[in-house]
Amino acid sequence: MKRRFFIQRFSQEKGSYWQEYVIDCDPTWVVLDALEAIHKQDPSLAYRRSCRHGICGACAININGKNRLACETRVANLPEKIRIKPLPGFPVIRDLVVDLNLLYQHIETVKPYLITQTPPPEKERFQSPEDRKKLDGLYECILCGACTSACPTFWANRNFLGPTALLKACLFFMDSRDEAKTDRKAILNSHPGLWQCHSIFNCTEACPKGLNPLRAIVMLRKKILRGK
Ligand code: SF4
Ligand code: FES
Repeated sequence: MKRRFFIQRFSQEKGSYWQEYVIDCDPTWVVLDALEAIHKQDPSLAYRRSCRHGICGACAININGKNRLACETRVANLPEKIRIKPLPGFPVIRDLVVDLNLLYQHIETVKPYLITQTPPPEKERFQSPEDRKKLDGLYECILCGACTSACPTFWANRNFLGPTALLKACLFFMDSRDEAKTDRKAILNSHPGLWQCHSIFNCTEACPKGLNPLRAIVMLRKKILRGK
C-alpha cells in the first residue's frame, strides 16, 4: 500500500520546508508506524512518541489539516497523499516537535490537583459513585494539547488559558473532595480564559479522545454564575 507523505520540516539551519517520502505501508499501520519507517530512511526527521497506545499524548500532530494522534490514526483510512505538520499554534522546535511549555504553564495556573483543608480522614476521602460519575468526560484527558492547538482564541492571545487547562480546571472544580472552590473561582476570574472563550467548537472537534472541552467551559461558567 503505497502512500506519499508530505512532511513540513523545520530546523534552525534550514528554516521551514516540505519534504516528500514515498512509503510502502502495511494495511495495519497507523501513522506512527509510517513515521518510524520514514525515520529509518531519514534519521534526521524529528517527532515525538512514547506509549504508542493513545495514552501519553506525545504523538499529537496535524494530519491532513486535523489534529490527531499519530498512534491512533490508521494509514488505510487516509488518502494516498498525506500532509503532516506539527501541531499549529505552538512554536516549532524541530520538524514535528513543538514547544508545549506554555500549555503546561496554563495547566499549572489552574492548580490541577486536589486541594483539601480539612484533616485527612483515617481511611480515605470518600466519594460517592454519583459524585464520581460527574467526573466522566473530564478525567480522561491525556494532555495532548490538540484542543488548545486548534483554538483561534489561543492563537490570538497567548495568555488565554485554553481548552486543555479549562477542562482540567473543571475536573477539580467538579470533584466533590476538593475544598478550594473559592480559590479556583478567583483564578478563573482573574485569568483570560473562562470568560474569553468564543464557543468556536474547534477544541471539541480536535480532541482525539472524543472529549468536549467547550461543554466543560460552559459547565464552569454556570457553576460560577450560580455561586456553586
Ligand atoms: S481535551 Fe482532548 S484534545 Fe484537549 S488535551 Fe485533553 S485529550 Fe487532548
Ligand atoms: S504515542 Fe502516546 S498517545 Fe501516541
